[in-house]
Amino acid sequence: MIIFILSIMSILYLYSLLNNSTSSSKLRPPLPPGPTSLPYIGSIISMLRNKPTFRWIHRMMDEMNTKILCLRLGNIHLIAVSDPKIAVEFLKDANGIFSSRPDSMSGYLISGGYLNTAHAPMGDHWKKMKTILTSEILSVAKHKWLLNKRKEEDDNILRYIKNQCTRGFVNVRIMGQQYTSNMARKLMFGSRNFGKGREDGGPGDEEIEHANSLWTLLVYDPELCVTDYFPWLRWKTDFDGHEKIIRNAILKARKYQDPLIDERIQQWKDGVRTQQDDLLDVFITHKNTPLTADEIKAQILDLILATFDNVANNIEWALAEMINEPRIFNRAVHELDFVVGKNRLVQESDLQNLNYVKACVKEAFRLHPVVPFSLPHLTTSDSTVAGYFIPKGSNVIVSRLGLGRNPEVWDDPLTYNPERHMNGNKEVVLTDSNLHTFSFSTGRRGCPGVLFGSTMATMLLARLVQGFTWELPPNEPDVDLQENLYDLAKAKPLFALVKPRLPPSIYPTS
Ligand code: HEM
Repeated sequence: MIIFILSIMSILYLYSLLNNSTSSSKLRPPLPPGPTSLPYIGSIISMLRNKPTFRWIHRMMDEMNTKILCLRLGNIHLIAVSDPKIAVEFLKDANGIFSSRPDSMSGYLISGGYLNTAHAPMGDHWKKMKTILTSEILSVAKHKWLLNKRKEEDDNILRYIKNQCTRGFVNVRIMGQQYTSNMARKLMFGSRNFGKGREDGGPGDEEIEHANSLWTLLVYDPELCVTDYFPWLRWKTDFDGHEKIIRNAILKARKYQDPLIDERIQQWKDGVRTQQDDLLDVFITHKNTPLTADEIKAQILDLILATFDNVANNIEWALAEMINEPRIFNRAVHELDFVVGKNRLVQESDLQNLNYVKACVKEAFRLHPVVPFSLPHLTTSDSTVAGYFIPKGSNVIVSRLGLGRNPEVWDDPLTYNPERHMNGNKEVVLTDSNLHTFSFSTGRRGCPGVLFGSTMATMLLARLVQGFTWELPPNEPDVDLQENLYDLAKAKPLFALVKPRLPPSIYPTS
């Protein structure tokens, strides 16, 4: 068997060598620079020996002094990009050549067989889902319709932190994740809690288990996995152990979500429910291109995941950097006191006037993206970008880190400096179509949740800065800004001493 497999591999390799040396391939531009790789398996062994993979890829780009790198994994070319102009060439892809998604074990499982938007390949299903998202679920009109639900969560998080003040300190990471997952559940299902929740506004056991499983999925989804490059292995073995972890996390997340969706579909069928109250109702009653129960379940998990991590990670880093630099913190406090004052809570209608707070959020997106790379984009035909040949089937990943920390674009790129986004009286926006900061990306696969994501991030930071003073425990002179080795989260969750700074009557009590 082994001899047979090796013979097939050698034949395939010789065939690919012959193919590469035909006259047409001699005329075409070179592949982007990259390490020399072994026949058939490419750089898989180096990848396994150099975990975490994203740091290895960035190290190679630095050592080769290149902003575009080509790595062969199995017979797939992985193209990593860290230059904004090249990234724009790929992502603002007029012909749709780089707009599909590759097949991957994690994507397949999380999307219930590519039934959502984020993992779906280019095609009719993706078009249907993305149209529903942009024209209905995440439209400006629906955003307005959902204002009161968002307000309940903006108030609840304040109430929760105020209750924590008696204890003295808050775990900012948990608080941020709680805010975003509460928000997602409230907008999708009409309720913050799956179970009873807690008296003080905190999460119950059900919400903790749900949030933990979302976190696991978000950590494992972007991981490069050996079976993605040798798909025939996928049906035989869980090579990296990722599959079991992902399957477990999906079961835990869906055991709370899916029964609610089935029950609601039945209520509409039975005529017990006749009015839309939340986004699940909007999905179920969508008329032009009705969705199946499986599509709704996959899409809701997609949206809950998309809502969960970006904002929570952003606010933890922003607050950590701001606590370390009181000048920045004080400027944000002054802006809030000037625009809103201390006798009412900041509201969404104030956000357009809070340019400095938005600059603080944007700067955290630039310097501390939640994941190192974009989701992979699949190349659907041979092409040339930045003078390099990009073969059909290549997976293109854009480095969020490389763009945001690019010294050719940003002065002193490793310093947190919100002032760099202030531009006179011009409104600060969190998007960046030039991709100097990746934030919401651009092009066909760009984020449809810009309005909702920007509102949540700015509102949360504004409420935290307006509502409380944040200090470090007495034995910690500075916030430790070290990031994890294996992902980009802060290595130690931010714990801060918190005290109310507004009159007691201003804080929501229930
Ligand atoms: C501040 C928060 C957010 C940030 C920074 C963000 C960022 C992004 C980015 C960079 C992408 C594109 C990835 C790529 O290159 O392919 C993306 C895609 C996506 N985002 Fe967001 N996002 C945020 C919030 C949201 C929210 C709140 C939702 C919806 C509730 C959402 C839904 C989606 C979906 C469905 C996609 C997939 C689009 C597609 O593949 O066509 N995002 N997001």
